[in-house]
Amino acid sequence: MTAFPENLISKILKRKQENALRSLDSDHTRVDFSSNDYLGFSNVPLIQKDFEVSNGSTGSRLLTGNHDGFFSLEGLLSEFHRVEAALVFNSGYDANLGFFSAIPQRGDIVIYDAFSHASIRDGIQLCLAKSYKFKHNDLEDLKNVLNTHKFHLGNLYVVTESVFSMDGDSPDLQAMVELTERYGAYLIVDEAHGVGVFGEKGEGLVQSLNLQHRVFARIVTFGKALGCHGAAVLGSELLKVYLYNFARSFIFTTALSPHSIMVIEDRYSLLNQNSLDSFYKQQRAQLLRNIEFFKAELNSLGLDKENYVHSDSAIQCIIVPGNEEVKSVASTLQEAGFDVRPILSPTVPKDHERIRFCLHSFNTFDQITDVLKHLIY
Ligand SMILES: Cc1ncc(COP(=O)(O)O)c(C=O)c1O
Repeated sequence: MTAFPENLISKILKRKQENALRSLDSDHTRVDFSSNDYLGFSNVPLIQKDFEVSNGSTGSRLLTGNHDGFFSLEGLLSEFHRVEAALVFNSGYDANLGFFSAIPQRGDIVIYDAFSHASIRDGIQLCLAKSYKFKHNDLEDLKNVLNTHKFHLGNLYVVTESVFSMDGDSPDLQAMVELTERYGAYLIVDEAHGVGVFGEKGEGLVQSLNLQHRVFARIVTFGKALGCHGAAVLGSELLKVYLYNFARSFIFTTALSPHSIMVIEDRYSLLNQNSLDSFYKQQRAQLLRNIEFFKAELNSLGLDKENYVHSDSAIQCIIVPGNEEVKSVASTLQEAGFDVRPILSPTVPKDHERIRFCLHSFNTFDQITDVLKHLIY
């Protein structure tokens, strides 16, 4: 075994001292208040059980890795999400990295929500455009930043998420579309946590507000409510052609396997079932009831006052400042049998550490009452 560099050891030690060293845990025996499997799709048997496809794609999509399954899935995604074109990426991380590193050019400006996901920020860091943050979900601040750059000659790109992963809250998308249109800016919405949860068929927040024709691009991911893996960028045909020519995280990687693509299509067929009592509709209705119940319980326990982050999504948070403090609250809940994770700084800003509850259709009212009782005792 070769030696490990000293400077990297000090970084690990520093994380340890700050009580922020991450670890890998494979215990899934506790009651799930932590996964992104909001509808329980990851454990639902495939509808189409007898497909026989190969396990590997054998190359990049620009070489041998492309196969008919991609065209079929991308057609389905365009129709379902009411958009001209869709381009599948291996993950949401890859989609954001590829999109933001390739689209904004030198001389352009990217304006992003201060709480944007790491994959968006990493992508922006790789591009040659200038970037500016606006305060989280603060349209006045976004307007100020847009105003400062309104005579800028390059393109303006504005980025938000339909549900913020660490807070569960959403921007006022209608107002944001109107604002960006006024400034001629291109709006991009990451729908990672919106798909499956918002919209009659789980189309996401943008479509539930009928704004799909007024955004430049959406990023949808399949590893959360869809319960499988992968992602797609939704937009115009030109955007698609541009991305498969210039997005490096699309070009220089082995494509998803035919098997993965079939699983994504299968999960979309669950969303697409039309009957009023379809499996998806039942799961979504139960998820929405659980979200309402969780909020009502918080209210009756007096926990929804100072430290609650308002959210209508499956992600609900209580701020517990301090890494040590939030870890201690989380371990009390874990010892009581609940899979609840502390979100530490630097993942969120210092003093904004939190307990994050991910709610699911399969959580029961009793489990919700119980976990919240343990939070206060
Ligand atoms: C808002 C947001 N975008 C993108 C991603 C990345 O998606 P994936 O897990 O498919 O890489 C995540 C996942 O945590 C996310 O929360």
